Amino acid sequence: MPEIDFYIRKLDVSDTVQNFKVGSQEYLPLKTFLQKQAKHFQQSSIAQTYVAVTDEKNIIGYVTLTCSEIDLQNGYELADCSHANNYEFLPAVKIARLAVDNRFRNCGIGATLIDYAIALIQDNIAANVGCRFIVTDAKNEAVSFYEKQGFVLLDSAGNHAAEHLLMFLDLVRLR
Ligand SMILES: CC(C)(COP(=O)(O)OP(=O)(O)OC[C@H]1O[C@@H](n2cnc3c(N)ncnc32)[C@H](O)[C@@H]1OP(=O)(O)O)[C@@H](O)C(=O)NCCC(=O)NCCS
Repeated sequence: MPEIDFYIRKLDVSDTVQNFKVGSQEYLPLKTFLQKQAKHFQQSSIAQTYVAVTDEKNIIGYVTLTCSEIDLQNGYELADCSHANNYEFLPAVKIARLAVDNRFRNCGIGATLIDYAIALIQDNIAANVGCRFIVTDAKNEAVSFYEKQGFVLLDSAGNHAAEHLLMFLDLVRLR
């Protein structure tokens, strides 16, 4: 794995995001989101974006987080709090977007963005507000990547048939 010197911080209004490349056409919405919407979403408190940067100007990856919930559809049992199994939805933070510039993939940046998000959610959200899960709607090609980061596929008939697969990480099981 090539060594890239980078760090992660919140997207800033002054960031120039024009150089970010995603490679193939299918990932263009991830480029458009970063270039055209991420700052608006941030200012409007819809979603917060954290960027991996090699220096102050060069963004090489990002993850966007927003509040969410998960319907476990009887596909997962909470053994430690059985009463919570009665609720249709349980609290979660969603990884709404995740992308690494195609020139920097397979260098550990995606995994580091996930680790950063997990730590941020555990320390700042789950510690202060009920939040049990991290969820994401994964494209088929990204399922193994998320599995390597500890996410599991929701085991329900509806999910197995879905275009984007609901994956989740149980924050309590990480303790
Ligand atoms: C998926 C993505 C974010 C991964 O980022 P990355 O920086 O290339 O991944 P990393 O280098 O951190 O990889 C971490 C591990 O996952 C593996 N991995 C990376 N991409 C993978 C993929 N698409 N499928 C399976 N495994 C993958 C790596 O080999 C590495 O394995 P290791 O820990 O055994 O060495 C990146 O490929 C990307 O931006 N893809 C296009 C957009 C996308 O699919 N986003 C996900 C939203 S659904």
